[in-house]
Amino acid sequence: MELKGRSAVISGGAGGLGAATSRRLAQLGVGVVIFDPNGANAEALAKDIGAKAVALAGDQNSDADVAEAIAAAKALGTFSIAVNAAGVAIPTPSVATPDGVPHDMDIFKEMIGMHVFGPFNVARLSAAAFAANAPDADGQRGVIVNTASTGAYEGQAKQVAYAAAKAGIAGMTLAMARDLSEIGVQVNAIAPGPIKTPRFDRAPPEFQNKMIENIPFPKRLGHAEEYATLVEMIVRTPFLNGQTIRLDGALATPLMAMSPAHKG
Ligand SMILES: NC(=O)c1ccc[n+]([C@@H]2O[C@H](COP(=O)([O-])OP(=O)(O)OC[C@H]3O[C@@H](n4cnc5c(N)ncnc54)[C@H](O)[C@@H]3O)[C@@H](O)[C@H]2O)c1
Repeated sequence: MELKGRSAVISGGAGGLGAATSRRLAQLGVGVVIFDPNGANAEALAKDIGAKAVALAGDQNSDADVAEAIAAAKALGTFSIAVNAAGVAIPTPSVATPDGVPHDMDIFKEMIGMHVFGPFNVARLSAAAFAANAPDADGQRGVIVNTASTGAYEGQAKQVAYAAAKAGIAGMTLAMARDLSEIGVQVNAIAPGPIKTPRFDRAPPEFQNKMIENIPFPKRLGHAEEYATLVEMIVRTPFLNGQTIRLDGALATPLMAMSPAHKG
């Protein structure tokens, strides 16, 4: 899609992957709405990016907040790009412990709410707004990029809720692409492996090194900028549609999640 005059909503735009994407799209001339409940981080990033960016504190699960983000994007250009980059992976309990304690249902619901309901909400409201856009020569009116995880395919122990949620993203991406063909909206997902974001920076070096042991090449964590590059490639390549693309250095997923026990 030709990017001139376009604008985007980046949900989770103040986080590691979202911030790199916000910066990249702004560099490409796209007006970006950094949509994130962490208003302070969103404001700081928007200030740093400059005139092409605005911050909007909000929740992907609130229709009113998403509508406000879309209205802000419309003020920056033709709203045509929605990137779902919100969410966190947290270590969760086993389905049931050997001493008979079942998985907490609220944790399961929270993970599905964060990683399935939220992105779906942003996607449905964005696609409805894209329907009013003039089509380009391909008939395209917009593009949606979701964020799954390698966990969608290779769920680890103690991450059943996250694995279920990310498999939900991968599953709905192709169905969304087919649904939205009627209005010319391209839909893909990126399934990252371990990407170095502020969450990883806060983790001890021995934890980071343990992660890297399982990545054949390149022998390092992914860079958030590599995620942003893939978002750019997707929005520039309309024939790439309905896919969930792994971004993981050919990761060999270990049995146990090595996620440090902290949230956010
Ligand atoms: N970093 C990785 O290694 C990695 C790997 C696989 C998948 N992912 C996925 O990528 C996405 C982004 O991860 P990240 O590493 O950038 O995390 P991050 O914690 O750096 O950023 C996530 C952002 O989402 C925001 N957020 C939280 N709740 C929200 C809500 N209700 N509405 C809108 N925004 C909300 C947070 O405030 C935060 O700024 C997540 O879905 C994560 O599961 C990340």
